Amino acid sequence: MINAAILGYGTVGSGVFEVIRTNQKSISKRIGKELRVKYVLDKKEFPADDPVNEVLCRNFETIVNDPEISIVVEVLGGVEPSYTWVSECLKRGKSVCTSNKELVAKHGAELIALAKENDANFLFEASVGGGIPIIRPINESLSADEITEITGILNGTTNYILTKMSDEGLDFDAVLKEAQEKGYAELHPEADVEGYDACRKIAILTSLAYGQQVDYEDIYTEGITKITDADIKYAKALNKSIKLLGTSCKIDGQVYAMVCPMMIGKDHPLYSVKDVFNAVFVNGNMVDDLMFYGRGAGKLPTASAVAADMVEAVRHLGRSLPIIWGSEKLELGNIGDFKHAFFVRVSADTPKEAVEKAFGNVKIVTLEEKTDEYAFVTSIIKEKDFQKKIKDFKSVNSVIRLNAK
Ligand code: HSE
Repeated sequence: MINAAILGYGTVGSGVFEVIRTNQKSISKRIGKELRVKYVLDKKEFPADDPVNEVLCRNFETIVNDPEISIVVEVLGGVEPSYTWVSECLKRGKSVCTSNKELVAKHGAELIALAKENDANFLFEASVGGGIPIIRPINESLSADEITEITGILNGTTNYILTKMSDEGLDFDAVLKEAQEKGYAELHPEADVEGYDACRKIAILTSLAYGQQVDYEDIYTEGITKITDADIKYAKALNKSIKLLGTSCKIDGQVYAMVCPMMIGKDHPLYSVKDVFNAVFVNGNMVDDLMFYGRGAGKLPTASAVAADMVEAVRHLGRSLPIIWGSEKLELGNIGDFKHAFFVRVSADTPKEAVEKAFGNVKIVTLEEKTDEYAFVTSIIKEKDFQKKIKDFKSVNSVIRLNAK
């Protein structure tokens, strides 16, 4: 029998408990032993008929001091007390499986090293893309490739909001409330809508792809709060959709990374990824293009990835798996040199001659309905050149990058 503990009985924690109970037989068959949840740590009270009451524990010390516990699931979210508790467990040789992207983005390299020193494992498949297998594929299946691009819809809440705004014309706040009710959104939903969550996720994927620490604070990040109904109408007129993308590309040996809303065309594999679904597009120099798709948030999909990490940890008890993510910092390229085409909405009195003088040949876009503005799309230019030129225009209503693919 293998004994595990779950730190936190919120959306994901209760999901992990449910996955282990529901799939008890098949999981035990795969690992050749019974996997039992001996403790669930949480301070809250739960309804009398919730089976968690049988294993509820109020004290972390009970778990860390119990030699029978070999696997600990951390699903508390946030950096503290998670960082302290995860470190304590690893130091005692207990493997840790987590969905906590803040913890992984900030301390991933260090916790992987600590796990290695103690012949344990620190596994974090659920920290990016919810139920989508993406960490293991990058770490294992693509280990013979040089990764040249990772571009993903990495946040379920914002994809849900953008889909509902676009397909059903619904209001931003109403859809955000729905996403919160469904358990997709973060405790503080600005982490979703301002792009911070996607930023941490692209930092994790980029660190793994290049084996060095990418500090999420270095990644230029823009959320979706400025996207309006008008932007969505213009995107449709252009046969494109607006997605919050996290992207990192290696160009001439330099890695560039950013998170921002982008317009993508029907030919892009991420175009039709809707609702809470996430998808990660990866290009490797040998394998070429790959797509990973699935539910990026929600109780059971995320719990499924955590539980699979538990199975992996049991299969490798006492032996640390190689995960290449060193603490040496990866210096990202200046995004001023990153190239995109730009969609710009300007007031109707902006002279088209001035637009063409600044940006050369542009595509002018108008809507069928009467508006007091028009839009244009530039050719592909460097971010710094675009920013320098757009400063001279006084009445810019919005700017959205177009994915260059
Ligand atoms: N709030 C996150 C999302 C949860 O919406 O994608 C999964 O990390």
